[in-house]
Amino acid sequence: MKVIDNLPAWHDWRSGLQDQTLGFVPTMGALHAGHQSLLQRSVAENQSTVLSIYLNATQFNDPKDLAAYPETLEADLQMAKESRVSAVLLPTYGQIYPDDYCFQVDETKFSKGLCGADRPGHFTGVLTVVMKLLNLVQPQRAYFGLKDYQQYQLIKDMAVAFFMPVDIVGCETVREADGLAMSSRNQLLDACARSKAGRFNAILRSAHSDSEAVQQLRDLEVDVDYVQSNDGRRFGAIVVNSGNGQVRLIDNVPRHQFRNTLICGPRHQ
Ligand code: PAF
Repeated sequence: MKVIDNLPAWHDWRSGLQDQTLGFVPTMGALHAGHQSLLQRSVAENQSTVLSIYLNATQFNDPKDLAAYPETLEADLQMAKESRVSAVLLPTYGQIYPDDYCFQVDETKFSKGLCGADRPGHFTGVLTVVMKLLNLVQPQRAYFGLKDYQQYQLIKDMAVAFFMPVDIVGCETVREADGLAMSSRNQLLDACARSKAGRFNAILRSAHSDSEAVQQLRDLEVDVDYVQSNDGRRFGAIVVNSGNGQVRLIDNVPRHQFRNTLICGPRHQ
């Protein structure tokens, strides 16, 4: 496995692949079983796989959230090696943003609701860095977890809108035994917060309505950013108080996994 931290070496490595199929898994590090499943799928479907680890400051609207983000590079590289990744790209801010973030990719509809409503600028940061990474890596396929469904859908739509020659592949959420979606932020939960977070998925699935889900989550004494049904899914975001600070968690469940009858609008409403 090649570990590459500069762009000339990256371009050299990439040009050696010639017409091999290349799969790409972009991450911000602190890898967990969810990332591992993306890596394994990419390795199974492509001749080479690239993992990028880049903690992208432009997508954090809250500096405290960025500062608390776990960094576990050695363990990440070990997981990449065990997953048979071909190369790991470790770029710096200067390499990714030679323009100092003057150029941005802004989506003006779907990105403004759900997580976008509470996190101004978040999806602009995500779309901009993903566009840059896809242009650098030039993979045939790029893999994203469906826990971040809004992110996945926006990236898929961006690739279509900008005629990008890449297949954006959505992969099922990997969960803990109690249903909690795997997330790098789970590491920040203390025991009490972890047990509350473990109820999140079950409540999204079992509540008869979005407002009932909100009430059940509030009864657990967690802050609810939103519970909203749209596009055949119920989406939720909560903030759990932990000894290690406030931890924001998101999840979503497809329509067939929850009880109530939805009145769904198209995504871009
Ligand atoms: O999902 C993530 O980890 C990030 O949003 C991504 C796609 C790597 C962009 O920084």
